[in-house]
Amino acid sequence: MKPTSLFLTAMLASAGLAQMGAGMKEKANDTLFDRLGGIHKIAAFVADAEEMEANDEMLMKNPRFKALFNPASRPALRFLVTESIAAETGGMQNKQTPSLPQVQAWLALSQEESNRAWMHRMKAMDRAGVPKSAQMELRSWLEKATKMAKPMAPQTMEKFAKKDSLYARLGGVGAISAVVEEFVKQLAADPIVTGNERVVAALASGRVTAEGISVLLIEQLAEAAGGPFKYTGRSMLASHQGLMISEKEWDATAAILKRVLDDFKVPAKEQGEIFAVIASTKGDIVGR
Ligand code: HEM
Repeated sequence: MKPTSLFLTAMLASAGLAQMGAGMKEKANDTLFDRLGGIHKIAAFVADAEEMEANDEMLMKNPRFKALFNPASRPALRFLVTESIAAETGGMQNKQTPSLPQVQAWLALSQEESNRAWMHRMKAMDRAGVPKSAQMELRSWLEKATKMAKPMAPQTMEKFAKKDSLYARLGGVGAISAVVEEFVKQLAADPIVTGNERVVAALASGRVTAEGISVLLIEQLAEAAGGPFKYTGRSMLASHQGLMISEKEWDATAAILKRVLDDFKVPAKEQGEIFAVIASTKGDIVGR
């Protein structure tokens, strides 16, 4: 997989990252992050809004907006915007540099463009079932923060990543996001995996979303590969307990991952390193 020389490739995690998974720590107060529905809902409405914005001809006439929505960089865009909203609203996700308000300030949208973008964002939040009060809170925070922020263009990850880390060799957050999104998409459509009715019920419960699982997997893989992210989800045991995942389902999952890595032209050495990470989770996932 070639390092994605993305315009956006990373508004990278700043120092002082949350050291602990969000799910592992009880928060004393209800935060905007909670009122938005947590990481699974935020990831779902970010992806939905991003799709609508990308298909909006008026917004795409703005050259900076168009560059940000370059098709190759869209998986990373979804991931980083989700991480940024979560971190800025009280979640334990990874704060980004530049922050979302700084990138928004750099976009310098006209009032008309901004209203248009927010129309899509509110619609996506409606569809995700986010209460209007939380929607308004997010909008007014981001609009105010954008006015006060120092404009900063999205940056590439190369200058932040250790050159020889697996993270850098894979192509950073841009490439990892693209692989993981495709993996989760194929997993959710696989007949063996969807033959497990407990898995199907969990995905249909609304408690978790495919987009949220993608975001958490990107964090997990990026962290394990030595990248500047921390995993903020639940433990593998807690998230798979009760699903009674069989060896056959595990093998089907591994085969999908192998196929996706091949499609993305990840070299054998890097694939071996990824499978070593995945194999270490098997005992907490299969037969639980
Ligand atoms: C290959 C190794 C795997 C990894 C690294 C992995 C990782 C994850 C992660 C990060 C989450 C989200 C945790 C959270 O919400 O905080 C998750 C949830 C989930 N995973 Fe996996 N997973 C793996 C294999 C599988 C397999 C083989 C299946 C099914 C056949 C599966 C089905 C699920 C389901 C249904 C959930 C949502 C559970 C719930 O919260 O109700 N996973 N997984």
